Amino acid sequence: MISIVSESQGIKSQIELLLNSSFGEKRKTLPSQKFRKGSKPIQNLSFIAMKEELVVGVIRFTKISIGNEFTCLLLGPIAVLPEYQGIKIGSSLMKHGLKAAKDAGYELVVAIGDPEFLGDFGFISIEGKELTFPIFVDKNRFLIKELIEGSSKLAKGKIKLA
Ligand SMILES: CC(C)(COP(=O)(O)OP(=O)(O)OC[C@H]1O[C@@H](n2cnc3c(N)ncnc32)[C@H](O)[C@@H]1OP(=O)(O)O)[C@@H](O)C(=O)NCCC(=O)NCCS
Repeated sequence: MISIVSESQGIKSQIELLLNSSFGEKRKTLPSQKFRKGSKPIQNLSFIAMKEELVVGVIRFTKISIGNEFTCLLLGPIAVLPEYQGIKIGSSLMKHGLKAAKDAGYELVVAIGDPEFLGDFGFISIEGKELTFPIFVDKNRFLIKELIEGSSKLAKGKIKLA
């Protein structure tokens, strides 16, 4: 049985191992990873999936601002241990994390990631929006999700750490 709990209940070294094995070599080269460097994820929006004592998945969000003062979230990382992928742990973490983000009052989430996986949770391309990320990103992987309908109208300008 898998349970989703606050990341504070997990062991940091186990989570690091999970991230390294899920992302592999590409982890350090990911644009959102580079962007987040030196920042801290939001503690009450960081969750892990546990199978007994083993951390099998993680989801985190970082606070960002768009343009002058639209505060929203950057998703990531989200990862599941390779041997536990494909059994809906990632989906459960996404649903749990997005609900918590909405409950915390956030209106919009930005993600640089897999459009196929993220599309299932309502993430869409930023195509047509005047939104810029400070590091080069593949535009097909540059996505947003409205937590509050219409919030993407405010997503105009440069993304910065908040
Ligand atoms: C992406 C990831 C978190 C998904 O977790 P998971 O527990 O395997 O996902 P689920 O079992 O909930 O599957 C959800 C859906 O996403 C699809 N999916 C899973 N992994 C995928 C991947 N790497 N690429 C594309 N689609 C993927 C599944 O096919 C599934 O679709 P279905 O419902 O039509 O079968 C996991 O594969 C992972 O850790 N990948 C490496 C790290 C990574 O790239 N993270 C960022 C993703 S934006």
